[in-house]
Amino acid sequence: MPPQIQLRPASIADLALLQHWDEQPHTIASDPDDKWNWEEELLKTPDWREQLIAELDGRPIGCIQIIDPQLEETHYWGEVPPKLRAIDIWIGEASDLGKGYGTVMMHLALRRCFQAPEVTAVLIDPLESNVQAHRFYERLGFQLVEKRRFDEDDCMVYRLERGRYFELFPNSSL
Ligand SMILES: CC(C)(COP(=O)(O)OP(=O)(O)OC[C@H]1O[C@@H](n2cnc3c(N)ncnc32)[C@H](O)[C@@H]1OP(=O)(O)O)[C@@H](O)C(=O)NCCC(=O)NCCS
Repeated sequence: MPPQIQLRPASIADLALLQHWDEQPHTIASDPDDKWNWEEELLKTPDWREQLIAELDGRPIGCIQIIDPQLEETHYWGEVPPKLRAIDIWIGEASDLGKGYGTVMMHLALRRCFQAPEVTAVLIDPLESNVQAHRFYERLGFQLVEKRRFDEDDCMVYRLERGRYFELFPNSSL
C-alpha cells in the first residue's frame, strides 16, 4: 500500500519547521540561492499560489508550492502562456528521502493542478546538477523542454502535459 500522505495548506504555525528544513544540506543543494522569506510569505495567500505541507500519518514531511507562472508576482518564469502551473517540491528531513514519499506527494500535487479543467500542463525547473531529481520527474512523465538560466542558476525546464499524465497514470482520478 502506498504511504498515506495528505497535503494541507501551510500556515505561520509551520514557520520554524520550514526554516529548519531550509537549513538541511539536501535542500540547500537543490536550491542554493533560495532566500525565501517565510515570515512574510506564510501570511500571504495570493490567488496564484498554494503553499502546502505534506503529512505522513499526521507528521509533516515536506513542502510543495504550486504557482500560476503567468500570474506569479516576480514573473520568475518570464513570458509564459496562461493555463499552466509550476511546482516546487522538497522533503524536509534527509532521513525521509528515497522512501517513495516524494512520488506520492507529486501525484497529489499533479492531481490538484489538473483538477482545474483549464490547466494544460505543469512546469518544473530543477538545477542542471540535480540529476536525481531529473530521474524522479522523468518517471512521472515530465519531458525536457530546455536548459535555461534563472538568475544565477543553470536549470532544466521540464513539462508534463495533462493528456500524457493521465495516459501514463490512468488510475489518477480527479
Ligand atoms: C526530489 C524529491 C522531492 C523526491 O522525493 P523522494 O521521496 O526522495 O523520492 P522517491 O523516494 O519517491 O523516489 C526516489 C527518487 O527520488 C529522486 N531523488 C532526488 N533526490 C534524492 C535524494 N537526495 N535522495 C534520494 N532520492 C532522491 C531519485 O530519482 C530517486 O530515484 P533513484 O533511486 O532512481 O535515484 C526529494 O528527493 C527531495 O526533496 N530532494 C531534495 C530537494 C529537491 O531536489 N527538490 C526538487 C527540486 S526541483
